[in-house]
Amino acid sequence: MNAGEGAEQSEHAAENPPVRRLSAWDGDELRDLAAAYETPLYVMDLGRVRENCQRLRAAFPDADVRYAAKAHTGRAVLEAVREAGLGIECASAGEVERAFAAGAAGKEVQYTAVNPPDRDLDVVVDRWLSEPELTVTVGARDTVDRLRERGFDGRLCVRVNPGVGAGHHEKVTTGGHAKFGVPSSEAEAVVRDARDDFDVVGIHAHAGSGISGDDLSTHREVVRRMGDLARDVAAHVDLEFVDVGGGFGVPYREEEPPLDLSAVAEATREALGEVDAQLAVEPGRYVVADAGVVLTTVNTVKASGEYETVVGIDAGMTTLLRPAMYDAYHAIRNLSAGDDRSAIPVTVAGPICETSDVLCEHRPLAAPTRGDVLAVGNAGAYGYEMASTYNSRPRPAEVVLDPEPRLTRRRESLAALTELEQ
Ligand code: LLP
Repeated sequence: MNAGEGAEQSEHAAENPPVRRLSAWDGDELRDLAAAYETPLYVMDLGRVRENCQRLRAAFPDADVRYAAKAHTGRAVLEAVREAGLGIECASAGEVERAFAAGAAGKEVQYTAVNPPDRDLDVVVDRWLSEPELTVTVGARDTVDRLRERGFDGRLCVRVNPGVGAGHHEKVTTGGHAKFGVPSSEAEAVVRDARDDFDVVGIHAHAGSGISGDDLSTHREVVRRMGDLARDVAAHVDLEFVDVGGGFGVPYREEEPPLDLSAVAEATREALGEVDAQLAVEPGRYVVADAGVVLTTVNTVKASGEYETVVGIDAGMTTLLRPAMYDAYHAIRNLSAGDDRSAIPVTVAGPICETSDVLCEHRPLAAPTRGDVLAVGNAGAYGYEMASTYNSRPRPAEVVLDPEPRLTRRRESLAALTELEQ
């Protein structure tokens, strides 16, 4: 690299930093969006989604980078991700259908079947008849048999339980859990048995979700095992790819450093070793987490001498489930407070009648008053996607910035809550 290239690269890093913190969002713009579209409101910045895709592709230049759609399946996001050159990894027939609706070609779509209901297999096999290049990843011998029964003889990938796992919480640690993948001791036999009836194109493993730099040794071990397996099965099939999963973590806490993506890429290559197949990775969170925020309005401030001040907001665990489900930390910023308001420790709680409906406790926040608009960071991944209508609370609206704001999901209406009833 000459000096000119170095300067160009650091300039590029400044334009496309490895993390976008909540403080970097334009507070005035967010407040205007809250006023125009009301709250709770998801805001997704497609420009940031594209930047994240570019950084991934730059770190893994020879790999097939696939977006794990489960993190955010909105059409605008899927389209942006596809245009940035990523494939789409789908966890259900519904996600497969949405990938095609967003314009994906068959070759770009991987369906990872996890204990797939019959209905999912029927839909995917039907879709395969017109899109013969889509790939189905199986995690059990049963699934292979059920595909055979349906006449599927297309592109097959075998998911292996790598025996070790990692993740930000035990509930998202996948590798090593019996639920996912065929046991590694059986993987070679499953590949051998499948090769006559299917086009076995890949092997796959996923360690877990939210891997940090500290988990690199686990990641390395998973990849090393996959490299060994790829060399073992080379005697039976010509593999096209070795998919080592996703799970690249993002810094949810303000002081947490971003993942060193090039270190992850280097560790991956080194651990994989020489294989006659392309490396594939399938991050979800990394692509969309810091591209999204939730905007919410303070509706109640309950100060009490005995307890910490409780700040009641109009977004709850039905809007953003992660804190209730995984005790996840999400940064919060008071967009309405100027420098004149000093921070006080608060509990921020939603409107759901559940003790777990608390976004944070003991958090210093510029003293909120009724009507303030708060922004909750890193909500782009597994945010809207895990929203529900519990407590008969309609799901929020969503706006994308492209760069102009555009309403991509209307706020659910009260009437919609009973639409399915008969
Ligand atoms: N590939 C497979 C096979 C997966 O199961 C997952 C995530 C991914 C890729 C993408 O993982 P990511 O890069 O997004 O970490 N709701 C949880 C996360 C559950 C992830 C499940 N599988 C959360 O909010 O943290």
